[in-house]
Amino acid sequence: MIYYFSGTGNSQWIAEELARQTGDETQAISQLISDGPVAVYAREGASIGVVFPVYAWGAPRMVEDFCRSITLANGAYAYAVCSCGDEAGKAMRRLKKRFAYQSAWSIAMPNNYIIGYDVDSPALERTKLAAASEKIAAIAQAVLAHASVYDVREGAGAGLKTALIRPMFNAFACATKPFFADDNCNACGLCARICPIHAITMEDDKPRWVKMQCTQCMGCINRCPQRAIQYGAGTAGRGRYYRYSDNRA
Ligand SMILES: Cc1cc2nc3c(=O)[nH]c(=O)nc-3n(C[C@H](O)[C@H](O)[C@H](O)COP(=O)(O)O)c2cc1C
Repeated sequence: MIYYFSGTGNSQWIAEELARQTGDETQAISQLISDGPVAVYAREGASIGVVFPVYAWGAPRMVEDFCRSITLANGAYAYAVCSCGDEAGKAMRRLKKRFAYQSAWSIAMPNNYIIGYDVDSPALERTKLAAASEKIAAIAQAVLAHASVYDVREGAGAGLKTALIRPMFNAFACATKPFFADDNCNACGLCARICPIHAITMEDDKPRWVKMQCTQCMGCINRCPQRAIQYGAGTAGRGRYYRYSDNRA
């Protein structure tokens, strides 16, 4: 089984491609835990993968928590794949304390953090996706062979970024207060339906962020069909990114 978390479709696409090429199945972590914590057991001979986006040089909290619930039998094959705009820092080294994988990979994918930066140019997006397709094919072969690989682009200052900036991001940069819907909102409610932590409700034909903090997955702001969702003053002039999947409603 390949478990994944994805805000804007990159990690979902990777998980689904890996499943297709290895004959496996996928399961969204946010759906699996929607009724509460679960226990996952990978028996001897089983293959278990976890795919997720990198947030501030770490794994999303939901992914780290989920990984604690996995028990690996002796002889189970475990691997992790992260998608990131550029560099993963020590996200994978940190994850190994919770999920004792044999192999880990990072894949550079289009950037979705439009609160901090604009989206990638169309040319860079195409280059990343072409390289990602090749890397997924290589990962699938390694998974089928149960190989041991560590192929993660950690980047400069990785230890410092993961140890210092990641906890600061989790503590101070996950506020929902700056989110709002502008006059282009047509009350379709998509943002509320797709939020993986149910932080949005529809009130008076407008989304309202009812949790103080969220995972900052950027699903709502990038996927809004009207481009009506903003975060403070910085996002109105920026592009939006979403990778559509055949399996996403
Ligand atoms: C809150 C947040 C933090 C991010 N931090 C990083 C980072 O530290 N390094 C990086 O290379 N990309 C970073 N990104 C970019 C995403 O990891 C990247 O676009 C990823 O492929 C998105 O995956 P998804 O579509 O499955 O959500 C960040 C994105 C978000 C939303």
